[in-house]
Amino acid sequence: MNSKLIAPSILAADFANLQRDIEMVNKSEADWFHIDIMDGVFVPNISYGMPVLKAITKHAKKTIDVHLMIIDPDRYIKTFAELGSNILTVHYEACTHLHRTLQAIKAEGMKAGVALNPHTNINVLEDTINDIDLVLIMSVNPGFGGQSFIENTYNKIKQLKTLIDKKGASTIIEIDGGVTNKNIKQLVDTGADVFVAGSHVFKSNNQTETIKELKTIANS
Ligand code: DX5
Ligand code: ZN
Repeated sequence: MNSKLIAPSILAADFANLQRDIEMVNKSEADWFHIDIMDGVFVPNISYGMPVLKAITKHAKKTIDVHLMIIDPDRYIKTFAELGSNILTVHYEACTHLHRTLQAIKAEGMKAGVALNPHTNINVLEDTINDIDLVLIMSVNPGFGGQSFIENTYNKIKQLKTLIDKKGASTIIEIDGGVTNKNIKQLVDTGADVFVAGSHVFKSNNQTETIKELKTIANS
């Protein structure tokens, strides 16, 4: 993948001014909308659900990248397709029949992603990597924005890159959690393609400029 992509995480947006923040992302150099769905069971937090996603997709003009942090995600694959998700990412740790889940996501016309928690080894994807469009490496423990980046992520990117090359797969690598203008360059150099950024973007004084800076550094 040539161009490196920026995916602002709406979890860090101002929910009382959601439309304003969505329009900001529309007009910015960001590439995707990253949408975190949490069920309070798989992760110790609840974010937002279908009605809010529906409101987001009504205004969002870029790729909708949905990250499901929920148990048994198969129950909702069709619903997320109908709501306008372009990419649907499920957690490896939440799927008993991952291969079947990936096929079901693709059958609904979406790209299929698999997320790995910080403790989950890359090797578990050895037999499915050719079926996966995107691997999301969690660089914090899932559930909350604003946490600090886990340094072992660099090793995981290298291992994943090696696996992708070995299997001749065309899977892209997304990094989620603690991404800033300080670590994005090293993440690019290690082999990542897509960068989720929540707090770093939405807590900054000039969000559009912060996105532009991330995009510029990532593609320099
Ligand atoms: C955490 C979510 C992330 C989160 C990232 O469970 O998956 O997408 O919004 O937020 P920051 O960039 O603040 O770490
Ligand atoms: Zn996420």
